[in-house]
Amino acid sequence: MKLGVIGCGKMGSALVEGAIRSGAVPAAKVSGCDAYPEAAKTFATTTGATFAESISALNADTYLLCTKPNQAEAALGAIPAGEALVISVAAGLSTAWLEARVPAGVRVIRCMPNTPALVGKGAAAYCRGKAATAADAETAKLLLGSVGLAVELPESLMDAVTGLSGSGPAFVYVMIEAMADGGVRAGLPRAEAIKLAAQTVLGAAAMVLETGIHPGALKDQVTSPGGTTIAGIAELEKHGMRSAFIEAVTTAARRSAELGGS
Ligand SMILES: NC(=O)c1ccc[n+]([C@@H]2O[C@H](COP(=O)([O-])OP(=O)(O)OC[C@H]3O[C@@H](n4cnc5c(N)ncnc54)[C@H](OP(=O)(O)O)[C@@H]3O)[C@@H](O)[C@H]2O)c1
Repeated sequence: MKLGVIGCGKMGSALVEGAIRSGAVPAAKVSGCDAYPEAAKTFATTTGATFAESISALNADTYLLCTKPNQAEAALGAIPAGEALVISVAAGLSTAWLEARVPAGVRVIRCMPNTPALVGKGAAAYCRGKAATAADAETAKLLLGSVGLAVELPESLMDAVTGLSGSGPAFVYVMIEAMADGGVRAGLPRAEAIKLAAQTVLGAAAMVLETGIHPGALKDQVTSPGGTTIAGIAELEKHGMRSAFIEAVTTAARRSAELGGS
């Protein structure tokens, strides 16, 4: 694979740094360009990739489209015609929209990453355009998988993904802040309370992913009869915490559809 990065901002840099670090693609096979050339120069220096003046100067058979959605149309129009794959991370742009704007012969894959990809802990989904092959899907999995979890799903589920893993980090930030507030109320210093709350979320998430045990069973394991944890859970239930999360995800998914997602 020869990877051309269009837009060396936060997501473009994070994906390429992850891909190079994991060995998915050698730095020598990556080139990057940006509307602001200094950004592409910094990207080239930090990653070891090659700086390109423009999209047509990229040496690539696979393009990673990492511009903002409103900049994507101009970028796609500058891709040279011929056999190539475009992997787009631009939120909300459907495969049909992308396919209508790429030159003949160019296949597309659409991804929905999330911000924790910036620290190598992303949760992303991707879907294939009409002409994209199984090998193209493997390429997307390799790149996205280098900065976290990556799953292939039908495009009709991309709004649901946006509501869950796209918007989800913000829901969890609110939860961490609120748990820390509880810690402060119980007497902890703020800085320690935030660290303890965040590490607790990280640890609980790792327990779910690494043990494969259902979260309900993990909850049962730590709620001793008449104990502290069941007292806290009863309070969460009283305040409708489950229903609040269910409504948050489904409302965010609905909003994604309203904004013109899949
Ligand atoms: N950040 C995230 O965690 C996240 C999560 C989910 C999805 N996404 C998606 O990822 C995409 C990128 O987000 P980001 O946060 O990485 O944005 P960003 O940091 O602003 O990066 C976008 C970069 O693309 C450059 N660019 C614009 N038009 C170009 C063109 N024609 N040719 C080459 N480069 C061009 C921009 O240059 P200028 O600065 O000069 O405009 C900018 O440096 C967005 O579509 C977003 O929806 C991001």
